Amino acid sequence: MLETCAQHPKMNPAAAPNPEWESFYRKDITEKLPTFSRDGRLCDCLFAQQFDRDLLDRLCRLADHMRDITKTRHGDDFLRGLLANKRAMLFFSQPSTRTFLSFMSACQILGIRVLEIRDLKTSSQVKGESIEDTIRTFAAYVDLIIMRHHTPGFVEKASWVLQTGHRPVSVINAGSGADQHPTQALLDIYTLNRYLPGGLDGKHLVMVGDLKRGRTVRSLSYLMKNYQGVRLTFVAPEAFRMEPDILAFLNRHQIPHRETDDLASTLKEADAVYMTRIQDEHDAGGESQRVDYSPFHIGTAQMAKLPKHAVLMHPLPRREEIHPDVDKDPRAVYWRQERNGMWIRTALIAYLFRMEKAVLGHHSEG
Ligand code: NCD
Repeated sequence: MLETCAQHPKMNPAAAPNPEWESFYRKDITEKLPTFSRDGRLCDCLFAQQFDRDLLDRLCRLADHMRDITKTRHGDDFLRGLLANKRAMLFFSQPSTRTFLSFMSACQILGIRVLEIRDLKTSSQVKGESIEDTIRTFAAYVDLIIMRHHTPGFVEKASWVLQTGHRPVSVINAGSGADQHPTQALLDIYTLNRYLPGGLDGKHLVMVGDLKRGRTVRSLSYLMKNYQGVRLTFVAPEAFRMEPDILAFLNRHQIPHRETDDLASTLKEADAVYMTRIQDEHDAGGESQRVDYSPFHIGTAQMAKLPKHAVLMHPLPRREEIHPDVDKDPRAVYWRQERNGMWIRTALIAYLFRMEKAVLGHHSEG
């Protein structure tokens, strides 16, 4: 955790001023995006706004193909040989179970060797090293950095620092503060397209819970610009309504959306319901305690209102917002959603290393 950096009297890397970075960080996203692409391809995955429909469709296809290939021993061996000369660093400053494990598994599927740092007390930042130098050091050893950090913009900064590095190293944002979680949004899209009849186009998606501080719903909302005829309903308590920047984005892209605190009335016309937990790690003064979250819970009674074809999703971990009795309902797809994460992340990594053609050219029968 960054707090541990306070152990060194001269050190507070988050606060260390870097005017060049700060002026880059303040730029509009459309101005920044080219920095993280080369030859019309993404080099880093930092923001959901980097993805267009063509790339989303390609990644979903690649993920499908890879899960098919690994059904045979021959196919599994083939994938494991693809990136056996590469190394990745998993750098996670916040707790994680599934994002960490799915990225670790994705690397293993592709034969990538993995180093990990999950406790910043073990890094040289505690000796007073700047974060810029720590990041440059990672880049000396690995070809890919997969990073989760509690400070919004931190992962972007790491990628920006590496633009002037001596080796090309891709950075993947595995969750940055309450800001973005683009690979969660990819797995959500993959899941929606797999289980909704006819895919996501033309569907009604209901996002529920702490929409103000949940990074998954923010990234997923950005991806909606890639789908035709989608409409959104945001169901949240007054204190945790979706932030105005996302609503403005939806307005700019003419994506119909509405806000309510009445979950029951939205269920019967939903195609997908996306539940989230209260994000109390972002509380500044106990605001989560003051909110009655129970109207934003789903149990079997609420499931009875949901159409037969609809799906119930959750990025997980859950608390009380989905009753465990609901797990048996075939419309509850969150455990499958979790596994889809491993496959779409495998596809993303293969794409970043330009392995799409090799994968698609391989057929499982060998
Ligand atoms: C989410 C996250 O970390 O933002 N979890 C995840 O990556 N699957 C959601 C959450 O923690 O509530």
